[in-house]
Amino acid sequence: MPPFLYYGGIMHIPLSNRLSACAQMIAPGAMVADVGTDHGYLAIYLLRNHIAAQVCAADLREKPLEKARMNAAAAGVGEQIQFYRCDGLQLIPREMVDTIVCAGMGGDTIAHILDDCSWVQDPALTLILQPQTSGNDLRRYLGAHGFSIEEERLVLDGGRIYFAMRVRFDGGSPLTPGQQYVSPQLLASGSALLPDYLDRVIAGLRRAVEGISQSQNPEERARLFYYETALHEVLEMKL
Ligand SMILES: C[S@@+](CC[C@H](N)C(=O)[O-])C[C@H]1O[C@@H](n2cnc3c(N)ncnc32)[C@H](O)[C@@H]1O
Repeated sequence: MPPFLYYGGIMHIPLSNRLSACAQMIAPGAMVADVGTDHGYLAIYLLRNHIAAQVCAADLREKPLEKARMNAAAAGVGEQIQFYRCDGLQLIPREMVDTIVCAGMGGDTIAHILDDCSWVQDPALTLILQPQTSGNDLRRYLGAHGFSIEEERLVLDGGRIYFAMRVRFDGGSPLTPGQQYVSPQLLASGSALLPDYLDRVIAGLRRAVEGISQSQNPEERARLFYYETALHEVLEMKL
C-alpha cells in the first residue's frame, strides 16, 4: 500500500486509531519530540494538520529513520522535521521540545527512555505515552518517580484495545498494584471499552496468580502478593 492516499487531490495520512488517540492529546502549537518515530506518520500528521509547530523525530535505527525521511518528503513536510538517530531523547535539544511522544514501544523501554533523560523531570513538559506492553510496569515507574497521569484513554484498533496516557512531572505519588494495571484516570474516563478492558486485565492477573501459586521458585512466589493485591483491587473496580 502506498504511504499516502489522495482523495479528490487531498492527501490522506494513514493514521491508526492508536496514533490518533495520541494526536488528540497534543495541544495545538506543540513542539513535539516523536521518539521511536519509525515510519514518521505521527510526525507528518501533526504537521500536515497544523497541530504541531515543529517536530523532532528520533529513532534508534537508521532504516526506520530513512523511511520517515522519505515519507516526510513525499508529504511535503520534510523541511519541518529534525531527524535524530539516537537512543530515546539523548540527542534531542531540550529547547526544541514541550511535548514528548513515546508510542508503540514496550512500557519498560519507555520507562528506560524517561529514566535516561536528564531534563524530562520538568512540569513544563507534556508526555504522551502509549505502551504496547507492560503498562503496569510503566505506571509503577511513573508513580514512583514523581509523574502523574493526567488523562488516560482506551482505543480500539484492529480488534485490540490499546491505551494512551497524558503525563506530567508534578511530584506525583506511588500507585497501588491495582492502579498500576488500571489507573484512576482510566477508570474515570467513562470509556465504553472499560468493561472489556477490566475483564482482560482480570483474566491476565488470574493467570499470573495461578501460575505463580504452583511455582516452587521463591523469587516468583515473592511476587504472588503483588498479583493477588492487584487482582483484588481490579475486581473491586468492576463492582
Ligand atoms: C513499533 S515502532 C512504533 C512506531 C510508532 N511510534 C508507532 O507507534 O506506530 C517502534 C520504533 O521505536 C524504535 N525504538 C525502539 N527503542 C527505541 C529507543 N530506545 N529509542 C528510540 N527509538 C527506539 C524502533 O526502532 C521502532 O522504529
